[in-house]
Amino acid sequence: MRITIFGVGYVGLVTGTGISELGHDVLCVDTNVDKVKQLNEGALPIYESGLADLVKRNVRDGRLSFATSLDAPYDQSDMYFIAVGTPRSEDGTPDLRDVLAVARTLRDAVKQRATIVVKSTVPVGTCDHVQEIVGEHDVASNPEFLKEGAAVSDFFRPDRIVIGSESETVQRQLRELYAPLQLSGERVIVTDRRSSELIKYAANAMLAMRISFMNEMSQLCEVTGADIHAVRLGVGSDARIGKRFLYAGPGYGGSCFPKDVRALTALGRAHGVTMQLTEATDRANDEQVVFVAKLIEKAAGTLRGKRVCLWGLSYKPDTDDVREAPSLWLTKYLLSKGASVVGHDPEARDNFRRVMRASECDVQTEADQYVAAEGADVLVLLTEWRSYRAPNFTKLAKRMSAGATVVDTRNVLRVRDVKAAGLRFQGLGVRRQES
Ligand SMILES: NC(=O)c1ccc[n+]([C@@H]2O[C@H](COP(=O)([O-])OP(=O)(O)OC[C@H]3O[C@@H](n4cnc5c(N)ncnc54)[C@H](O)[C@@H]3O)[C@@H](O)[C@H]2O)c1
Repeated sequence: MRITIFGVGYVGLVTGTGISELGHDVLCVDTNVDKVKQLNEGALPIYESGLADLVKRNVRDGRLSFATSLDAPYDQSDMYFIAVGTPRSEDGTPDLRDVLAVARTLRDAVKQRATIVVKSTVPVGTCDHVQEIVGEHDVASNPEFLKEGAAVSDFFRPDRIVIGSESETVQRQLRELYAPLQLSGERVIVTDRRSSELIKYAANAMLAMRISFMNEMSQLCEVTGADIHAVRLGVGSDARIGKRFLYAGPGYGGSCFPKDVRALTALGRAHGVTMQLTEATDRANDEQVVFVAKLIEKAAGTLRGKRVCLWGLSYKPDTDDVREAPSLWLTKYLLSKGASVVGHDPEARDNFRRVMRASECDVQTEADQYVAAEGADVLVLLTEWRSYRAPNFTKLAKRMSAGATVVDTRNVLRVRDVKAAGLRFQGLGVRRQES
């Protein structure tokens, strides 16, 4: 098949590359000239494990190309995927301008009847709106569930593929496209467009809610002397609950959970339904990073004049994405209290510095995690990259100031090892820190 993808962000680039790897001819269109230039020069605008080799191979084999506009012969594609961003507006509703702009482009450029697939996360009713714009073309919803950091394997081994379309022709077309991903079993869920649109928000809100719930549990553990590891194990062993996604941390971030939770609240508001749980989830998330900030402050005594090192600037490991990462708010808070901040991250330093510069914040970053900790009074493990999980604590203690504290906001370090090196330890609701 001939496929066009709009947007070469985390979703569009992975989807376009994945589809080309399955053997189809794919053009990825993005209005960002720099990104397209980079891709055409063989560089990737994002970091995603395993993606660079796939892009290289499919470009070499002539199945994958990049452009800033819809060029022939791709104005006669079988399917057009919309994978552009839907960022949060001030009032919590997603900004659909890019999605609707692509719809208008397709209305004007595509002459023969085609299928338009909305992959971007959009509120219920958006596909109907796109349909009004594009007229005769078939519009389907096909939300994306990939996880940054594991996006390539998620593309090839999806938990499910949701197709929102009442047209049998479109269902058949999408089933055929995704057939190679289902050799080990049926993954497709076919439904109507509105349900498909809502599934994506419901899934993200449910996951965000689990995180916020466990974050509140960690606060309770901290003050009551209970241990969050034991609580997680005890709770997660219930088959109705399950073990995954029950880890406390500094609050969720990224380009999806914060915006999608708020979008669901806004969607409810627009339809007269009070979304109490998403509202509370959002509030609890905002408060979790404040809770972490207070733990850091307590560890430092006072933040004025102190040096704080942050390990992990991306919102989760294995990505360079810093959108809504806890590191951003936390850094601003620490600076406002008179601390100096130095950051380290295996992939996200450039993005972090760019965002910080835009907020006129003066933050230093280092390429080496131990150099970053030089002279630090507090080291905060914010994102659980693998290289932070079993560091050389003796080396670390030598670099850090006397009496320094390690604040582990992901509860991944062995407390015994931290303490054996002469460092103080603070976790999130972990009892073993006292031993
Ligand atoms: N990032 C994720 O983990 C993830 C996972 C699932 C779903 N989603 C959803 O997928 C969508 C895309 O997310 P993302 O993280 O890939 O976004 P992104 O910001 O990384 O990429 C969006 C891209 O769209 C391009 N774009 C904007 N207007 C355009 C236009 N008119 N024509 C062509 N390109 C245009 C931008 O230049 C940008 O490169 C969002 O709705 C998001 O909520 C994201």
